[in-house]
Amino acid sequence: MREIPDDSGDLLALTDGVLAGERDPWANAANAAALVYERMPDLNWAGFYFLRGGGLVVGPFQGRVACVRIPLGQGVCGTAAERRATLIVPDVHRFPGHIACDAASNSEVVVPLVEGGRLIGVLDLDSPRFDRFTAADARLLESLVEKVVAACDWRLAGIDGY
Ligand code: SME
Repeated sequence: MREIPDDSGDLLALTDGVLAGERDPWANAANAAALVYERMPDLNWAGFYFLRGGGLVVGPFQGRVACVRIPLGQGVCGTAAERRATLIVPDVHRFPGHIACDAASNSEVVVPLVEGGRLIGVLDLDSPRFDRFTAADARLLESLVEKVVAACDWRLAGIDGY
């Protein structure tokens, strides 16, 4: 089995392309969400939640209308954020406290955005396929998130702690 998906170089190179020369968090998050949604097969939602006002608030995304606020420690997003750790959920229906935004979602991966130990938010991907996300996908998304974190001036975004 391949460790890295075929198009991973592509996705990271394209990420560099969309982030180049821009420090605005909303602009970069919007384009990063669009890029992931376009390039990764079998997604029904891809986007960001950001830490604002003590909890996660939905940011730029592609997909159906989503839950606006998720408290830290709740759902897949809030759990990954609180742990500051990537979470792969092969079957969301078996995840205690999963927050169902789109009934079509069956699996999910959430990657936290952290800068110098400070939580910024999370990147959340949903799929209608069970067990859609591999460990290699998670590593790829972590690399992509690292690029987004480094590319933005987070003081412009109203993120808690900035
Ligand atoms: N399912 C997520 C909520 C966000 S939506 O999937 C877009 C969760 O349990 O945190």
